[in-house]
Amino acid sequence: MRLILLGPPGAGKGTQATIIKEKFGIPQISTGDMLRAAVKAGTPLGLAAKKVMDEGGLVSDDIIIGLVRERLQQPDCQAGYLFDGFPRTIVQAEALKEGGIPLDYVLVIEVPDEEIIDRMSGRLVHPASGRTYHVRYNPPKVPGKDDVTGEPLVQRDDDREEVVRKRLAVYHEQTKPLIAYYEAWAESGDPAAPKVRKVSGLGPVEEITRRILEALAG
Ligand code: AP5
Ligand code: ZN
Repeated sequence: MRLILLGPPGAGKGTQATIIKEKFGIPQISTGDMLRAAVKAGTPLGLAAKKVMDEGGLVSDDIIIGLVRERLQQPDCQAGYLFDGFPRTIVQAEALKEGGIPLDYVLVIEVPDEEIIDRMSGRLVHPASGRTYHVRYNPPKVPGKDDVTGEPLVQRDDDREEVVRKRLAVYHEQTKPLIAYYEAWAESGDPAAPKVRKVSGLGPVEEITRRILEALAG
């Protein structure tokens, strides 16, 4: 299975990705998690990316494409992969296409803007694994602790309301057009084009997983 999870910030891409990757035994390629790891490690890339991320902007296409290209070389990508938060611009999507990277599905998780702010303000993450919780909608078993390791959960630096609003604006301007891009490709009749599937991201996490698995079966 080779797929892209597309959707606004807070749509539940990361939450669903951790479940779907287990079902299919494929790696999750989250450019956001990769960038946050670089920030934490204090690499030159991390230092440059942190400022952009904290402002809710997008890291340059060249950097992102380089990161993904390198990641795809690793042997665990042979059986498939799940892109989470990539591609995010037409330039990134074109790079995937020109690189001949096979894709089966583009799965769009739809959530209205009003819901997003509420979700982000309650989000907690386990930085080492990327596991994501919500204080009310998806609480950890022990408050403030990761279910698997028991390590502390933290808030993301870019989950402040004004930054979330900026990220939403960037999504509408630069990433949402990818839906029409992939639909047009699918309609062109090119056998290499991935199928586009849309599911509502509103409702309990398990219900959305069920919708996604159903969409990926058809
Ligand atoms: P990235 O990490 O990709 O962030 P994002 O796309 O903004 O998405 P999020 O991770 O915020 O949301 P999500 O959809 O994963 O939702 P989650 O499952 O966590 O990118 C961060 C930054 O890195 C970007 O702003 C940019 O600067 C840079 N970047 C990354 N990739 C890039 C690229 N390709 N090009 C350029 N720059 C790039 O869920 C959110 C919350 O909701 C959680 O608390 C969760 O528990 C809760 N929740 C989940 N499902 C439900 C549900 N069904 N009901 C209620 N609550 C739910
Ligand atoms: Zn995410």
